[in-house]
Amino acid sequence: MFITLEGIEGSGKTTQIRHMVAFLSRKGQQCIVTREPGGTHIGEKIRSILLDTRNNAMEPLTELLLYMADRAQHVKKVICPSLEAGKTVICDRYFDATVVYQGYARGLDVGFIEQLHNIILDNLKPDLTFLLDLSPEIGLKRAWKAVTSGNRPLRETRFEGEKISFHRKVREGYLQLSLAEPDRFRVIDASKEEHQVRDDILKVLSV
Ligand code: TMP
Repeated sequence: MFITLEGIEGSGKTTQIRHMVAFLSRKGQQCIVTREPGGTHIGEKIRSILLDTRNNAMEPLTELLLYMADRAQHVKKVICPSLEAGKTVICDRYFDATVVYQGYARGLDVGFIEQLHNIILDNLKPDLTFLLDLSPEIGLKRAWKAVTSGNRPLRETRFEGEKISFHRKVREGYLQLSLAEPDRFRVIDASKEEHQVRDDILKVLSV
């Protein structure tokens, strides 16, 4: 089973993944937790380029191709082998993030992004995608709190530093994707308390 989590900055994906793994492991599933960008040795290097605040001069097309390079490596080296071995893969962001961030928010052509995905992914779609939805105002407040409390390096905040209008486009983009594929997406209200969000997610996983 291939499960992905999506959402704006500060939506609490990482915290909720911990709860999901605890729950699924109790049910006897062998879980692999991974993330994009990152998830492989090469991917972690690409991640540090992508998130580095000193790289503000990055062209949208450069950004897109770096996410694609990260994903190509990740799919081949981690996601496919793990699924073939019968494991449950829980991935913190996947291709929806590119459609939304580089497509809807940066303004690159979504058709072009989908063409690249057709080449890279060999049709590998998640079975289930949780969209942790909340307003950018709340999300960004939480995201910056994680930085000031030392849970996220200040140097890796290139996206947190984007204007609120950018984050609104990201949120709207995700909601549009969820409407287009209601069978795959579960939209979760991530403005609730951590334990309530957890319960809402585990309810879906229990079915
Ligand atoms: P993270 O902080 O949730 O790990 O994500 C890193 C950042 O990368 C986040 O701001 C969203 C952004 N991103 C994209 O812009 N496109 C993508 O394809 C992915 C996977 C992430």
